[in-house]
Amino acid sequence: MHKVIFDTDPGVDDAMALLFLHRHPEIDLIGITTVFGNASVETTTRNALFLKHAWNIAAPVAKGLGETLNPDRSHVGWPTGIHGEDGLGNIDVPEAIDMPLDPRPAHRFIIDTVRANPGQVTLVAVGRMTNLALALRDDPEVAALVKEVVIMGGAFDVPGNITPAAEANIHGDPEAADAVMTASWPVTVIGLDVTTKTVMTRAKLIDIAARGGASAKLLSDISQFYITFYEQHVDDGMIVHDSCACVYVVAPHLFRTRSGSIRVLCGGIADGQTIQKPYGRLFPPNPWDGLPSQNACVGIEAEAVLKLIGDTL
Ligand code: BDR
Ligand code: CA
Repeated sequence: MHKVIFDTDPGVDDAMALLFLHRHPEIDLIGITTVFGNASVETTTRNALFLKHAWNIAAPVAKGLGETLNPDRSHVGWPTGIHGEDGLGNIDVPEAIDMPLDPRPAHRFIIDTVRANPGQVTLVAVGRMTNLALALRDDPEVAALVKEVVIMGGAFDVPGNITPAAEANIHGDPEAADAVMTASWPVTVIGLDVTTKTVMTRAKLIDIAARGGASAKLLSDISQFYITFYEQHVDDGMIVHDSCACVYVVAPHLFRTRSGSIRVLCGGIADGQTIQKPYGRLFPPNPWDGLPSQNACVGIEAEAVLKLIGDTL
């Protein structure tokens, strides 16, 4: 059984990933922590509570950061054209959900839960890395107690999706992402190199809604706005970025990884770009010197991943 804390900014593909984690028999979802990204943290937290209630998820929700780690960064707005004004495809989520939040901020929830389960917790982070970075800052020793960190974010050998160089989750808080990638815990980065290959068709979504009961029907309703957006950019369907990171936890054999330390550019024309240490002899000093090796995903069995998502949902 994999004990998972899901750090998320729901978010349509986040919602799908959450239902996957809730339904997969080998995953024990022990916490949901929220962060800004697809919408403000107030909205993503409201959405997490809404989904927890709708899908009867036992895991507590802890509210996280609403701003970048570096206070000097200016805010660039929410991607309302992708996830809707409400972050969940404009399905009319109630303004407020009458459910309690965990009293702790997300980073403190992460620290306490990891310390209570040393060596057992997998952090799956599919939004800005701000909560994880703050957990590291407040309690650096927590890194050694985490089993694994799986991130949806970044773009190594392919262009970005928010700028030519950067993927949205990393670009939204590059300083936080660099802190997470360079810490001494095992990180696997599932970026656009592989997630853009997982295109879920409308037919597949309809099939999931038909087979998965009321929860899957709600997910299908939430996904309509997002799939309409993606159909303009990819052939016939939507990219299920965040679910890929969740699939990796239970089926890493469906992914091919490359090892080497990873840095994130913080500033300049390639702000937010993820760069893995180049192979070959590097002249010292170099920005990867002495840093732990991490895994960047460079290959995926996309059909098998999509099938596992569909069967689980
Ligand atoms: C990432 O950005 C968000 O829009 C998605 O939820 C995903 O986590 C893809 O770049
Ligand atoms: Ca996300």
